[in-house]
Amino acid sequence: MKVAIMGYGVVGSGVAEVLKKNHESILKKSTLSQLDLKYILDIRDFPGDENESLLVRDFNLILNDSEVGIVVETMGGLRPAFDFVSACLRAGKHVVSSNKELVAEKGFELLKIAEEKNVNFLFEASVGGGIPIIRPLSQCLAANEIDEICGILNGTTNFILTKMINEGMDFESVLKMAQDNGYAEKDPTADIEGFDACRKICILASLVYGKHVYPEEVHTEGITRISIADVEYARDFGGVIKLIARAKKLDENKIFAMVSPMLVPGESQLSTVDDVFNGILVKGDSIGDVVFYGRGAGKLPTASAVVGDVIDCARSSGKKKFFGWGEGAPGYVADYLDAETSLFIRAEAENPCEALDAAKKTFGQITLLARTAAPGRELAFITPAATERELRTKLETLHILTPLSVIRVAES
Ligand code: HSE
Repeated sequence: MKVAIMGYGVVGSGVAEVLKKNHESILKKSTLSQLDLKYILDIRDFPGDENESLLVRDFNLILNDSEVGIVVETMGGLRPAFDFVSACLRAGKHVVSSNKELVAEKGFELLKIAEEKNVNFLFEASVGGGIPIIRPLSQCLAANEIDEICGILNGTTNFILTKMINEGMDFESVLKMAQDNGYAEKDPTADIEGFDACRKICILASLVYGKHVYPEEVHTEGITRISIADVEYARDFGGVIKLIARAKKLDENKIFAMVSPMLVPGESQLSTVDDVFNGILVKGDSIGDVVFYGRGAGKLPTASAVVGDVIDCARSSGKKKFFGWGEGAPGYVADYLDAETSLFIRAEAENPCEALDAAKKTFGQITLLARTAAPGRELAFITPAATERELRTKLETLHILTPLSVIRVAES
């Protein structure tokens, strides 16, 4: 069987490298007599590249070649990836994708085509880079009802926050480092505004709860407003600020899903997931808590997950794996304001003592936080838990202070 790669960027070139580097053992594990890379589709030129002879610009060469049984999509973006992937599936080819946007937006449609054509559409690399998470959730943990998934799903933002917290580095230079290392998306807005983590939690929630969850249904906040002051107050609390993606089952017809920075207490296993690493905490009714940890981005870790899927397709050639989810439903994702949380509030006030008294009267038992060299007008505290709607309504009545940061506090 022959393999084609569509998109010769960071991940695509990693896939070519892993397929070549580990060819013998991959072939053995595939249980096929041959598994060779035949085409690499890209509109760019790569003069002098070791795979230059495989490069093509015409997608139809791949689509119409009956020798090509497995197509790897590492192009990213929705178009033309969706058209190419759906055409390959319709032509009876297995497709392996690392494209989070494609799966989060079009997963249901593509899985349906794969079902009809009796081929596989696999995307282990779309969440958690090299960390096995899709297959464990769909197979190893299939016996469980999953109560909640909570994770650090974006390597770039975790890298940025870690460097800001541990080394006091500024946002822009750490982002540049992440881009140089190939962690960041082509447009890093998707990383820093939380869209990438949102796509990933949509994929995980769709998989475990059985209905397609679309990114626009999930309230998403990024890390661009996190300041060193917030990081210092988090330290006083004994925690760290992380970009957390969560999905939780509320009942058969409703889930909660959200992406936002959170103040994570030091006791949480997620508080020590640093740098480009991702950590995903899964709460199952039989297994209890299980944490998946590893490299969430980067060329070879992500290629490792892609090639694992290629091997799976090769092994199950002719036998469709049972894998997928159903259609989404209006109102399936609950309003995030109805979820219960505590809030970290950093604010400024003409008279911080009076403002703190007012905050106590309004919220009840607040926890005061301190940091060295805080400006005289600054105050920071954590509210007791209540619905976010209730807390935000109360905050709006506190005209005595001006909120500078409002960050949700994670359970430990
Ligand atoms: N930009 C993504 C990240 C790449 O930083 O996690 C892996 O999906």
